[in-house]
Amino acid sequence: MKKTALIGSVITFCAINAFGAINQELIQKAKNSGLQPIPSGKALAAYQLQKAKDTDLATGYNPKMTQAQIELGKKLYFDPRISSSNLISCNTCHNLALGGVDVVPVAIGEKWQPNPHHLNSPTVYNSVFNSVQFWDGRAFHLGDQAQGPIQNPVEMAATPKLVVEKITSIPAYVDEFKKAYGNKVKIDFKLIGDTIAMFEETLVTPSRYDDFLNGNPKALSKQEQEGLNTFIDKGCIACHNGINLGGTMQPFGIVKPYEFANVGDFKGDANGMVKVPTLRNIAETMPYFHNGQYWDVKDAIKEMGAIQLGITINDQEAKKIETFFQSLTGTKPTITYPVLAPVTDKTPKPIF
Ligand code: HEC
Ligand code: HEC
Repeated sequence: MKKTALIGSVITFCAINAFGAINQELIQKAKNSGLQPIPSGKALAAYQLQKAKDTDLATGYNPKMTQAQIELGKKLYFDPRISSSNLISCNTCHNLALGGVDVVPVAIGEKWQPNPHHLNSPTVYNSVFNSVQFWDGRAFHLGDQAQGPIQNPVEMAATPKLVVEKITSIPAYVDEFKKAYGNKVKIDFKLIGDTIAMFEETLVTPSRYDDFLNGNPKALSKQEQEGLNTFIDKGCIACHNGINLGGTMQPFGIVKPYEFANVGDFKGDANGMVKVPTLRNIAETMPYFHNGQYWDVKDAIKEMGAIQLGITINDQEAKKIETFFQSLTGTKPTITYPVLAPVTDKTPKPIF
């Protein structure tokens, strides 16, 4: 009895050892392939500083932002009154309870209008780690990005003037801007966008995958590790790399055209390049691709193999990669839903 137990534990020990060694190899392989964990602690501070300095990569980090600024940014993010109808907020399309998306193929904004290019809303979680923003990469800084949807007639349809009038007509907002930026603050459209961006910078979701890359071999199950290995061996890491497993501009439809290329008229930037979506929280951000044509991520994986790599990904391999994707679902920051001060008689009325 005693002997069997001993043999049993020896076998278990060996198995863990062998498995542990394989893990370490895979961690190294993943890192060599350009996959990076979300920086934390000192590494995060260094990353933020570098990003703030590096104008090419300045997607938004402001290392000096304060809690008062972040809280104010959160209010603006959730406030539908910065839309002309008083009905659409950033959270309408980038719902923080739903992986930062709206779970519809095409974004729907003011007057129930669909995006004219049939574009799908990307997640705002971890968007700070993208090198560029929007499907065609036209914005770098999250603050500049935020000015877009507020003015877009099919999103929030508000002019900069109207937004500033609405905010400054609510004394509690003016007080909060003073608290965040000092008594002499000039509340303009740019500052509103930049403040929203500060809140967005906090929308970071570390997961077990990060623990694994940081050297904890037990953070991923055996099946998830197999999926990660398949993801690397198939060549997905050519474009899905870095902290976000995406976030840079890459060619799309390299080997053959995308199956649903004719849904909407989006063709990428001037060079036909498309921003690679982050794969973090991919299990929550369906439907997939710029025009939201796939609901099952396995179909998106197979299509990627066919059109980007010229390979056939079989059902079993797609399933393995999907299993790995589960480990990219991160811990969301705890967000207390803000209470917003009421409008006053000076606040411009909603326009439908
Ligand atoms: C009507 C839905 C809608 C609303 C409202 C909306 N967005 Fe978006 N958002 C989108 C769509 C669609 C895109 C992609 C558009 C494109 O690429 O041209 C996008 C892109 C983004 C991106 C870029 C992410 C990436 O990976 O490229 C960020 C960040 C973002 N929005 C933040 C915001 C903020 C902040 C607000 C509020 C001020 C907001 N959005 C309001 C639909 C919306
Ligand atoms: C040559 C670059 C490249 C390669 C290689 C590549 N991808 Fe992509 N991937 C992209 C681009 C660009 C998009 C966005 C396409 C679009 O929607 O227009 C994308 C989109 C995706 C999406 C949809 C994400 C979303 O939120 O809509 C998934 C899932 C995905 N890729 C997985 C993979 C897998 C798995 C592999 C390997 C089999 C792979 N990709 C290989 C560039 C690439």
